[in-house]
Order: sequence, then structure tokens, then C-alpha cells
Amino acid sequence: MGDIKTIGIVTSGNDAPGMNSAIRAVTRSAIYNGLRVKAVYRGYKGLIDGDIVEFKTQNVSNIIQQGGTILKSSPSTEFLSAEGRQKAFENIQREEIDALVVIGGDGSIHGARVFAQEFDFPCIAIPATIDNNLCGTDTTIGYDTALNTIMQTVDKIRDTATSHERLFFVEVMGDEAGFLCLNGAIASGCEEAIIPSVDIEEDQLTTFIQNGFRKAKNSSIVLVAANEKNGGAMHYADFVKQQYPELDVRISILGHLQRGGHPSAHDRIIASRMGAASIQALLKGLRNVMVGIDNDEIVYVPFSRAIKENRVIDRNLVAILHDISI
Ligand code: F6P
Repeated sequence: MGDIKTIGIVTSGNDAPGMNSAIRAVTRSAIYNGLRVKAVYRGYKGLIDGDIVEFKTQNVSNIIQQGGTILKSSPSTEFLSAEGRQKAFENIQREEIDALVVIGGDGSIHGARVFAQEFDFPCIAIPATIDNNLCGTDTTIGYDTALNTIMQTVDKIRDTATSHERLFFVEVMGDEAGFLCLNGAIASGCEEAIIPSVDIEEDQLTTFIQNGFRKAKNSSIVLVAANEKNGGAMHYADFVKQQYPELDVRISILGHLQRGGHPSAHDRIIASRMGAASIQALLKGLRNVMVGIDNDEIVYVPFSRAIKENRVIDRNLVAILHDISI
């Protein structure tokens, strides 16, 4: 698309490790292809406030390994309104930005979709969220790093759980999808994973305790996906404590440490590939698509499909967890 001379780059929503690697790739790839780059600070709020700075290649030096986002992120209720988006569009025109690359999760892509439709403006999204809940891509930037963080932390919890012959409920993030919880449980050799998309009633938990805990093993770790509906690790731990007062039960809530840290090699590589692909997409005239990776190939997924619904967990993985945790 010959009329794109300047791109804007935004990170929006919750941070994820590898966002900086993507910012670097988008910036460098754009400049390599003769485009100018305007960096928007603090997400959609920065678009409305005009918090925009021109980036050269040196602005993204030494960031590939840093967690978080150098562009910051901030919620913007104003962007939810037509007036807010109008202000954002006026700033975009003032800055002579011809297209936006938005790096973020489902909420950010939803925002890009509305904005693109309203102003007939080219937007490309790069999926970055530890939740891995977007459709049309095998993985999202940040997921692999968060999974490794969970695994390394649960390995440590396992040491104390084994020494004291305890039952641990470890609460992890991941939103409704439960990918971090289920794959975190498999990677850490956990005995059970409680995820929103697979109903675990309290009687199932009782069966697990009766069948597994203290029969063949002297400790157990149950991962729980933090979820408003299920009450989190605290809820299950309380239930078990009441039913089995003799068990030594502990809770560990991993919290935001799952979002931090240096991105893994995998996240840096996919961020670099997706960042470069976002510029290729714009040069080819594509718009309103999310860059994805499917079977190790770059794909372009329409916004509507990417955020259509929460990506569904593979039930075979649940069976694998159960089969090998006996
Ligand atoms: O979307 C990423 C995520 O880490 C979710 O897994 C989690 O539910 C949420 O963000 C927590 O957000 P906050 O930083 O607002 O507590």
C-alpha cells in the first residue's frame, strides 16, 4: 500500500513478556522498509492524550530482553466512547500516522477493530498476552515465558510440599481459557488442574484426594486458574480443610510475577517474526488482521475471528494430565 509512509505503534492492555521484542521488530522492520515510526505511550489513552514520539532504530536498542513494555500501558475508559476515539483519530491525523500496529490481547484487538471500522483506518494487531486465548494463532507472545515462570515456581513449591508431605493449591493467572493452568500443571507434574472450561465439582476434588493423595504419593500440587466464579485457590483449600482436617494444606498465589521477567527465546523469536510480518502485512495492503503463527507459518487472521470467542482447551490434555499424575 503505497500511501502508508508513517506507522504508529501502541502496546495496550495488560503487559506480557516479549512486547518489547515486538516493539523492536516493528520499529526496525518499518524503518528498514522506508517507513517512519511514531511510538504511542500508554496505550489508547496515549492516542487520546497525544502522548506520541518519533522512534528511530536506537530507541529500541537493548530492549529485546526486557520484560514489560517500554511504551507503558494504561486502561482507557475514554477510548470506549465515540468522543474519545474521535480525539484519538484527530491526534493520529495531526501526527500524520497512516496505519497503526497494536500489540496486545483480546481487549486491545477489540479496540483496534472498532477504531478501524469507525474511521476506515488500517490497523494490524500482534497478539501479546500471557493468557494464550486468541483464536487463529498457535500461541501468543508472553505465554511461553509465563508458562516457564509457573513451572520454575511450582518446582520450588514441590520441594517444600514433598519435605512436609503437604497438599498445595497454587493459583495461577490465565483468565477464562485455562491454558496456563493446564499446561503449567502438565509441565510441573501436578496432580490436578482446576480450570474454568472444565467443570470440577467439589465431589471430583474429593475423589481426587481419596484416589491420589497419600496413597501412592506423599505430596500433591493442584493448580487453580484464578477465576471470579470458582473463588480461586482459597475456596478449594477451605473445602478440603473442612473435609479432611488431617491433611496439611497450603495455598500459594503466584500473582503478577507470572507477567514479569525476561522473555523466553521462543517469545523473542515469535515477537520478532510477528513484528516483521505486521509491516509486511501493511506493505501488502492488508488491514484489520491479527498476525498469527499457525504450524510455524505466519498467518493473517481477521480481527473478527481472532476475538470471536475464547480459544478452547484441548480435552486430550486434560486426559493426559490425569493419566500421568496417578
Ligand atoms: O490478561 C492477563 C492477565 O494476567 C490475566 O491472566 C489476569 O486475569 C489479569 O491479567 C489480571 O489483570 P490485573 O493486572 O488487572 O490484575
